[in-house]
Amino acid sequence: MSAGAQAMQSRPGVEIPDITANPRVVEVVQPLIDRVQEVIQEKNVSYDEWHHAIHFMIDLANAGEVPLLMALFEATVDEVANAASASSTTAIEGPYYVPGAPMLEPPYVMPQRPDEPGEPLVFSGAVTTPAGQPIVGALLDVWHADATVPGTYSNIHPGQPDFNLRGKLKTDEQGRFELTTIRPTPYHIPDQGPTGRLLGALGRHSWRPAHIHVKISADGYQPLTTQLYFQGDEFLDSDVASAVKDELILPLRPAGPNTDSHLTLRYDFQLAPTRR
Ligand code: DHB
Ligand code: FE
Repeated sequence: MSAGAQAMQSRPGVEIPDITANPRVVEVVQPLIDRVQEVIQEKNVSYDEWHHAIHFMIDLANAGEVPLLMALFEATVDEVANAASASSTTAIEGPYYVPGAPMLEPPYVMPQRPDEPGEPLVFSGAVTTPAGQPIVGALLDVWHADATVPGTYSNIHPGQPDFNLRGKLKTDEQGRFELTTIRPTPYHIPDQGPTGRLLGALGRHSWRPAHIHVKISADGYQPLTTQLYFQGDEFLDSDVASAVKDELILPLRPAGPNTDSHLTLRYDFQLAPTRR
């Protein structure tokens, strides 16, 4: 599948029913239409501007950027979905999750090219209940951009082998995990496509701070989707996706006094039990 066709699917590889199957279609879509009409009235939107909007949506679909534009709203969806969650802090999935990443074998090393650019990074931590009980055998599905500038994602952007820097691992008998990978660089969404050009016209840049995506699942627990960010990143305060949360900004520490040793990143996740 081409990058564009892949990006056209809201969840590559996942079947999602038609919107008419959703019983809340009247409750949610009708007010959405009403609000657009209010803006047309309030801002005196002209026929030309209405045609610009039509043209923009056609362009967006043709460029395969519907999921990309929609990702700009995902931070609010995440906030609503997880407002009452007892799990640790969530963050958006973003448009570039791909199911089917390889299950790795310990000691865990992210799939990477022999000459993968970037500083080595050891990401470790634990998965526990909110009370701190270890969760053994929790599945972590981890994906991140490479260390080129700006970073790119395998299976989405050309230039990387499939599932490069994407992998699954499990917590051990103590509920702990350790994954060796590389430090991703900040990422910017394509700025030549309709989404990037619109952001530019709005006076906004297209950058996201560097981040590592993680999805965690374990039997009997609510699944968690989150991202981890690095202290000192220049885009933490102006993320194009408005998805940074303070609790998810972490220090990258050198492993030891030796300056050529790798960086370490530590984070403990908590999963709330499944609601009954
Ligand atoms: C967006 C989010 C991401 O996590 C990412 O890697 C790229 C884009 C977004 O919200 O547009
Ligand atoms: Fe991302």
